[in-house]
Amino acid sequence: MHYRKGTLDKAEKEGIALTFDDVRLIPAYSEILPDEVNLSSRFSRNIPLKIPIVSAAMDTITEYKMAIEMAKNGGLGIIHKNLSPKDQARQVSKVKHYLNGKIEDPICVKYDDTMEEVLNMREAKGYTFHSFPVLDADGKFIGVVTKSNFTFCNDLSKKVKDIIKTPLLTANENITIEDAYKILLENEKGILPLIKGNNELSGIYIFSDVKRIVTENSGMYNIDSSGKLIVGAAIGGTHKDAFDRLEELVKSKIDVVVIDTAHGHSKNVIETLKEIKQQYPQLDVVAGNVATGEAARDLAKAGADGVKVGMGPGSICTTRIIAGIGTPQLSAIYRCTRALSDYDVPVCADGGLKNSGDITIAIAGGADSVMMGNMLGGTDESPGDVVILENRRWKKYRGMGSLSAMKEHQGSKDRYQQGERKTKDLIPEGIGGLIPYRGKLADILGQYYGGLKSGMGYTGTKSIEELQEKGQFDRITNNGLNESHPHDIFITEDSQNYRGKSNA
Ligand code: XMP
Repeated sequence: MHYRKGTLDKAEKEGIALTFDDVRLIPAYSEILPDEVNLSSRFSRNIPLKIPIVSAAMDTITEYKMAIEMAKNGGLGIIHKNLSPKDQARQVSKVKHYLNGKIEDPICVKYDDTMEEVLNMREAKGYTFHSFPVLDADGKFIGVVTKSNFTFCNDLSKKVKDIIKTPLLTANENITIEDAYKILLENEKGILPLIKGNNELSGIYIFSDVKRIVTENSGMYNIDSSGKLIVGAAIGGTHKDAFDRLEELVKSKIDVVVIDTAHGHSKNVIETLKEIKQQYPQLDVVAGNVATGEAARDLAKAGADGVKVGMGPGSICTTRIIAGIGTPQLSAIYRCTRALSDYDVPVCADGGLKNSGDITIAIAGGADSVMMGNMLGGTDESPGDVVILENRRWKKYRGMGSLSAMKEHQGSKDRYQQGERKTKDLIPEGIGGLIPYRGKLADILGQYYGGLKSGMGYTGTKSIEELQEKGQFDRITNNGLNESHPHDIFITEDSQNYRGKSNA
């Protein structure tokens, strides 16, 4: 893609780096209504997005609940890495198993397994479901063991074949998902085994999955080719962490991994990236974080399928203050996307967004997607409990480089290159705090991409690509910024999409 941004080019020539609050987009002639725009984009070469919003790989932002909700709303969640490789892979599995249409290779148990063996297997594999088809010695289907069998079993040494009940509810393998839903509903059953030929199991339908697909608005779902929600996970920038995690993540059918470091333009990251692409050529790998064109290009040359941009813009980041490095985010985005204009490598702008207008600005600056921590925190789907302070509800949000995160997790120490340092020797690069409780993610997300759609209407751009190409900026002064926010009024009416000038 080739585009020029007058204001940003000029700033480059003057040696000035800008961020979101330094600019506003210039309105342009439009034939487009906000509801007519197309928000689809890509996180990486092969990972699509229906809305260009990704949730941050942070332990107070993205675990499976956030990832499920993000993908259901057309975005993507990146599961953080302050978890053991196995626990992280379990989180991924929960997302991948959330939306099963027909399950073609269900986990089966053998007729002579004991109930205890089945429970142990379930525990060891981290499965959240209790229903398993049962096969005989010849691999033929003979029944199903379900949650109620476990609930009412008073002797776990009994064999599965002595527990399961007949007659069974089954259906032909070609039944439609709508008919499967009706049958399960009428018979009040949780599982429908699908049979072909001589009692061979061809798959199963699970009521909760089928219900979601048949009754929910699934048009927005960001799904893979087999109809499952798309999910990503963070891995470290060192060979050991990356490959320990990859082994588990690939088994749990991860769609994309993100090499998640504070300094992506480093030897370790580049070498790890090259090795991953050699061993897992089919897997999309996004690398970061970077803030210069040279860094973005070096990652693209090393095989990155996406580049993540942002050094120090985040709401909980202190890197720029502690280490004195970093680049105001809009210029970082522009430098990286221009450097990648000859590569088919999408850019994700990570951190520093305060309001929905910043999404429009980040994309007009060249980004293909944005990653958010703060703006998605405080929701029902972000990890952690609601806390009450001064009669208000809040949720905790902390930097992955905060002292508490580094004390508790090697993953955080690795992100900030702190090796095995003792607590007193740690150099934190983040802080922790509270975000007002905001309720359901889907509601605030709707406001965010609604704001982006409005911005696209005002700039006459009907797709993300057009916004990247045509969006032009005015550089504004502090007076302009003051004028942009509400002023000269004592605000008495809250607006769910406006967080005020100071986001404290
Ligand atoms: P927002 O502004 O959305 O930023 O809250 C989220 C992004 O911030 C990065 N991050 C950190 N950066 N110290 C940093 O310098 C930290 O402790 C820290 N924790 C997260 C990260 O890229 C995230 O997506």
